[in-house]
Amino acid sequence: MKEKKGQILLPVGEKILIQDFRSDVGGGGTNTAVAFSRLGLKTAYLGVIGKDLNGDYVFNCLKKERIKFLGKREGVNGISVVVDSNIHNRTVLTHKAANDNLDSYPRFKTKWLYFSSMLGKSLQTQVRLARELISKDLVKIAFNPSSYLIKKKPKSLKTLLKLSTVLVLNKEEAEMLVKKGDLLEGLRKLGPQIVVVTDKNRPIQCYDGRMKYKLKPHKIKVIERTGAGDAFASSFVAGLVKGLSIEKSLRLGLKNSESVLRHFGAKNKLLRWKNVR
Ligand SMILES: Nc1ncnc2c1ncn2[C@@H]1O[C@H](COP(=O)(O)OP(=O)(O)OP(=O)(O)O)[C@@H](O)[C@H]1O
Ligand SMILES: [Mg+2]
Repeated sequence: MKEKKGQILLPVGEKILIQDFRSDVGGGGTNTAVAFSRLGLKTAYLGVIGKDLNGDYVFNCLKKERIKFLGKREGVNGISVVVDSNIHNRTVLTHKAANDNLDSYPRFKTKWLYFSSMLGKSLQTQVRLARELISKDLVKIAFNPSSYLIKKKPKSLKTLLKLSTVLVLNKEEAEMLVKKGDLLEGLRKLGPQIVVVTDKNRPIQCYDGRMKYKLKPHKIKVIERTGAGDAFASSFVAGLVKGLSIEKSLRLGLKNSESVLRHFGAKNKLLRWKNVR
């Protein structure tokens, strides 16, 4: 689609021919679950999958990737329409549908939880789960909140930040949370021990309270950018879970995000552990 002055232009009342159309399983939950599983971690997905054809598509994707499904199937599956511009920017129209309806969780054992952004009942459930497991000192939480969560749900967001060990977000999201002073130090004051701020092709910054780290992304040819943030955040966390240093984990995140950026789709080019070393 043609882009002009920061807008993707769609004339009213016309039928517009498009050059290409692809469909894929997406969303922070499945993108990151696939990244974790391919990097060799035993992975489960907790969320609601629709009881419809799109839901089948998601369910089969998890099965193929050896991800255990801990949620329930109900209603209409969440869906996003990604409109790609002629210069590879994109606008996303998202309908959360069943994604908002997670109201319970089964018993399970894990050392880490990775939280993507959820709304509605699912956000309340996420807060409940975090409180329960953290109070028993059972898990560490990695959190990757989106701008809509920061804007719409400041109270739940604050609670989740306090309970998180690792926080990964992009610069715009970070600046919404810290209005003045040092960005990384400000983020750490909200709760997490390790904070990472990404900024597209500009250096990734990280702070663990002792040292500040910077890593510059390579100059690459970007084909399509959906899933870059998810690939980075999940692979960085996977590195930490596997006991890698912060530096090595940042490099793992970078490598996997670049693999995703070089191809269409949010997850088909996510790397396997044997190919990242
Ligand atoms: N143009 C680029 N060239 C090289 N690497 C990039 C580029 N854009 C993104 N990346 C890589 O992906 C990481 C995450 O990108 P970004 O900061 O855009 O995250 P995001 O805004 O959360 O993305 P998303 O919209 O997918 O959630 C960057 O830190 C970098 O490693
Ligand atoms: Mg993001």
